[in-house]
Amino acid sequence: MPQTWMITGANRGIGLALATALVARGDHVIAAARDPASPGLAELVAKHSGLVTPTALDVTSDASVAAAKAALADRPIDVLVNNAGVYGPRDKQGALDMDFDAWRDVFEVNVYAPLRVAHAFLPNVEASQGRKIATISSRMGSIAGNPSGALAYRSSKSAVNMAMVVFGNAVRERGVSVLLFHPGWVQTDMGGGGADIPPTESAAGLIGTIDRSGIAETNSFRTWTGEAIAW
Ligand SMILES: NC(=O)c1ccc[n+]([C@@H]2O[C@H](COP(=O)([O-])OP(=O)(O)OC[C@H]3O[C@@H](n4cnc5c(N)ncnc54)[C@H](OP(=O)(O)O)[C@@H]3O)[C@@H](O)[C@H]2O)c1
Repeated sequence: MPQTWMITGANRGIGLALATALVARGDHVIAAARDPASPGLAELVAKHSGLVTPTALDVTSDASVAAAKAALADRPIDVLVNNAGVYGPRDKQGALDMDFDAWRDVFEVNVYAPLRVAHAFLPNVEASQGRKIATISSRMGSIAGNPSGALAYRSSKSAVNMAMVVFGNAVRERGVSVLLFHPGWVQTDMGGGGADIPPTESAAGLIGTIDRSGIAETNSFRTWTGEAIAW
């Protein structure tokens, strides 16, 4: 039975790889992006027009989220993936040297937006069979991992872990599973060309692990292959 997935930041990187792998197996994808006409997404739509719904969405904007919600109306969403993310400046986010405006911008995308999007589309997720909300966090948000450097990015991923666990506890009784993932170190604009794995490998792992997850896994923090990560 084909499912409907909604993916934020679906125009490039891990988001586009997820969308591509999902339509290849016959699932429907609501491909949300700031520019839904961007080349990667346009190519996917051209190949699989019946399976892809390109949707304009800036996850930091209440108005944009409301417009996307209005466009999708009551359409059930089996799996909502909060994938959109930013790293912040490559310099000036150290323990002793911080660009505070940039830190705030990172929190807008990586922390506030996943909850804003989850709130908006919770009725659609509740109306589905799958009832899952997955957020692409990062191992860099693990406090147990003895972190140093990249303070803005790391703290945003620690914070989104906490936000989603609190949210997960609130929606557990509605049968909605809330999942947190590290996607691997992935060859994208964010991960860089020297990263460990291609986006296709990350996407395949994430999809398989999400497929196998349900309410028993709610509020877990795991890798793309399903291994637990210490908070
Ligand atoms: N790559 C890695 O090694 C790695 C490791 C751990 C975690 N992650 C996480 O994985 C997720 C995807 O990362 P990636 O590597 O695929 O990054 P990427 O290639 O840089 O892509 C980031 C995506 O997020 C979108 N985005 C940023 N701000 C947005 C906004 N305000 N509204 C809507 N979309 C927005 C971008 O859209 P635009 O094209 O419009 O900018 C783009 O589609 C992120 O949450 C990231 O933190 C990545």
